[in-house]
Amino acid sequence: MTLKFPDNFLWGGATAANQCEGGWDQGGKGLSVVDVVPWGENRRPVMSGKMDYRSLPADSYYPGRVAIDMYGHMKEDVALMAEMGFKCYRFSMSWARIFPTGMEAVPNEAGLRFYEELIDELIRNHIEPVVTICHFDMPIYLVDTYGSWKSRTVIDAYLKYCQAIFERFKGKVHYWMTFNEINMLMHLPFMGAGIRIEAGENKEQVKYQAAHHELVASALATKLAHEIDPENKIGCMLAAGQFYPYTCDPDDVLQAMQKDRENYFFIDVQSRGEYPCYAKKYLERQGIKIEMEPGDLDILKTYTVDYVAFSYYASRLTSAKPVDGAETAGNVFKSLKNPYLKVSEWGWQIDPVGLRITMNAIYDRYQKPIFIVENGLGAKDTVQPDGTIEDDYRIEYLRAHIQEMKKAVCEDGVDLIGYTPWGWIDLVSASTGEMSKRYGFVYVDRDDAGNGTLARSRKKSFYWYKKVIESNGETL
Ligand code: BG6
Repeated sequence: MTLKFPDNFLWGGATAANQCEGGWDQGGKGLSVVDVVPWGENRRPVMSGKMDYRSLPADSYYPGRVAIDMYGHMKEDVALMAEMGFKCYRFSMSWARIFPTGMEAVPNEAGLRFYEELIDELIRNHIEPVVTICHFDMPIYLVDTYGSWKSRTVIDAYLKYCQAIFERFKGKVHYWMTFNEINMLMHLPFMGAGIRIEAGENKEQVKYQAAHHELVASALATKLAHEIDPENKIGCMLAAGQFYPYTCDPDDVLQAMQKDRENYFFIDVQSRGEYPCYAKKYLERQGIKIEMEPGDLDILKTYTVDYVAFSYYASRLTSAKPVDGAETAGNVFKSLKNPYLKVSEWGWQIDPVGLRITMNAIYDRYQKPIFIVENGLGAKDTVQPDGTIEDDYRIEYLRAHIQEMKKAVCEDGVDLIGYTPWGWIDLVSASTGEMSKRYGFVYVDRDDAGNGTLARSRKKSFYWYKKVIESNGETL
């Protein structure tokens, strides 16, 4: 029995354009969703689609506009990844950089060139690019003009964007994901999918209709990717984390199963090719009628994904009965407090074994290769007077998760493509807009209000992760 990660295991790190790239008005880029999501008390209302960004105060601060300016630090940042020995880098492209409004007939050459330079630099450094096509990021024009994914027009706009990048990066990029955390649409509709809920709209109806359009777009993108280059591998991507029942009361167990299904719904369609029976019944019960075009169901059935990617930060806990005062924060998803788990400074529970459980649950369900494309600890770092950053807490978190990941691969036989911890370099937090919620192996000198030099420096975890990669996960 082999107890090692496979030799071709993809160790790396992940980021997304909307949280690291900046350069919001550079190179002909159009305004995108993240550019209008502010820092502060209005962030949540805007992200959840309850507040229209056009009614924000004029002095609002938008942290994603400059972020950590990877746009201006690209070569330096690739050099840091190369120094750690990355085998792959998961990043997203900004749709509005390539099609500023989403409706142009031809792509913006400057936008394509930016990603071409990044991809070429990665390949020169033997780093496999792993691209998220849409990560909380789309041209705001599509939102304001068509209501985003409420409209089928956006499917065509998305496919035009996909075609442009599949053709341009043919032979250079092989791993793609159609949508980041597609289930986020249900929880933060504006951030997840550019959806604003207008007065009088049935929220659930709107969200499931939009989801249908995204699912069709994802299947058609999969078709296109395979036609353009049969070597392309397309993944779906889920904000994962198994739900546990609060007690062994069968009602709690049932509730946990149902909660999991709310999220699995999306990737059940993307991976198995059809609306699952439980979803059809749910929609029926809620009186939700999804408008479909003839052929939609065939498209979903025929063009399923090659692999299943997911983010994992924590497991979740749920009860069928109300449990007073026992709720805790988590990656947007509400969860009860699990007395067996510690929490991060932001209240996110820490559950390495939950990663093994989640990996097994997903692999059992789909029997397709899986890819952990996000995992990590958001924490405050202190820069010592000599400039060093001793982030042992981050090392401890990642070590424990990698140990469990190793068990899932080596003891349970899960087929895992790779591991890309989130925010390998500090970036803007998606949920809070803070810079002080840091995930990186690399520190970036920038604070929550946008002050700082943007200088990069290596944390203790940088050297630790380098050794992890060098030893293919043996030295933890
Ligand atoms: C995931 C997202 O939900 O969690 C990332 O895909 C996000 O974009 C990450 O940054 C961590 O969440 P947060 O809120 O701490 O940035």
